[in-house]
Amino acid sequence: MVENAEGTLMHAAVENQVEGIDGDCGGVCSCATCHVHIDPAWADKVGPATEAEEGMLELEDDVAPTSRLGCQVKLTPELDGVVVRVVGR
Ligand code: FES
Repeated sequence: MVENAEGTLMHAAVENQVEGIDGDCGGVCSCATCHVHIDPAWADKVGPATEAEEGMLELEDDVAPTSRLGCQVKLTPELDGVVVRVVGR
């Protein structure tokens, strides 16, 4: 659990040493080391992957319908409590 998170899912995870989220590219959608599965209950609020994310996700294993790159998910008040699963590497 990460509290008082700001920025993106990736930044919040890296700042809180969440294992499995590396953020190697610094958040510019070019590494996929921030791949997460959004809990289906939250998928509509988080929204779908962008075209650029889908391009990166094509190279990933364990892609799910709710896959997102954490660096592309901006944390907003509406996402307070969002549940995601870190995809194992
Ligand atoms: Fe590289 Fe998200 S941090 S794609």
